[in-house]
Amino acid sequence: IFVELYPNWAAMEPEKKTQTTSEQMTDRDLSEQIKKVTKDSHVRAENTELMLSFQKGKVTLPQYKLLLCSLYEVYQALEEEMDRNSNHPSVAPIYFPAELARLEAIEKDLEYFYGQDWREKIVVPAATKRYCHRLRQIGKENPEFLVAHAYTRYLGDLSGGQVLGRIAQKSMGLKGSEGLSFFAFPGVSSPNLFKQLYRSRMNSVELTEEERNGVLEEAVRAFELNIQVFEGLQMLASVTENELKTCSTHSTPVNTLQIP
Ligand code: HEM
Repeated sequence: IFVELYPNWAAMEPEKKTQTTSEQMTDRDLSEQIKKVTKDSHVRAENTELMLSFQKGKVTLPQYKLLLCSLYEVYQALEEEMDRNSNHPSVAPIYFPAELARLEAIEKDLEYFYGQDWREKIVVPAATKRYCHRLRQIGKENPEFLVAHAYTRYLGDLSGGQVLGRIAQKSMGLKGSEGLSFFAFPGVSSPNLFKQLYRSRMNSVELTEEERNGVLEEAVRAFELNIQVFEGLQMLASVTENELKTCSTHSTPVNTLQIP
């Protein structure tokens, strides 16, 4: 059902490694360097408890709802800073709001799960606040570092995120695509082709040696901030679960009285 509603997903082909001469990447390309320096961080991110639950198809609805709350705050900060700096020479080439912006999709998902007053129900760990603080800080002080954050989130969403969306749908037994707008990119017909375009745009950004090193460092930091959010969410989810358990042992469950 999900694939029918999001035909782009059905068109996903395995990523092609062959490139034409004009697209040939070199070791000096930002897209290659950024992938290399974040390789270990990616492995660590994939292996956080939360991401492992996702991959095993064990993500629960409460966990997913909490994740959406954090993604809401993160994308709000990221997209506000991208919009404000959209004419900055390091941001303009990688500014694709029509294709990539996630905020409205997340809002839709939050409304689906929490109802109309979802804004009052947002709960995030401290790590999410730290991530957003960093995004706003670099948006003001070093907009050229935004490329590192946009890469980390959007290219991740267009890569592993695509598979995770389908697994999440199954794990939570969701019918159709409701609550899963975050994973769908209706403006991107081929994620793999789009990623190639995005990489070539990243490579066209002109950076001094110092700025380039700063961007690479920031990308590692972006992954670290994500890992800390996942760890914070895991703790938040277990606290919420324990609270629920404690509540049900201390108060008489309503339906106990109805059991013959
Ligand atoms: C790329 C899987 C989590 C960021 C990819 C790719 C896969 C993948 C299969 C494509 C690799 C390639 O093109 O060679 C996963 C899985 C995850 C996960 C299964 C967790 C369950 C994350 C997280 C982030 C992230 C948490 C960042 C917050 C990225 C980025 C890329 C990527 C930026 C693009 C790499 C590049 O081509 O330069 N991921 N990922 N991933 N992922 Fe993940």
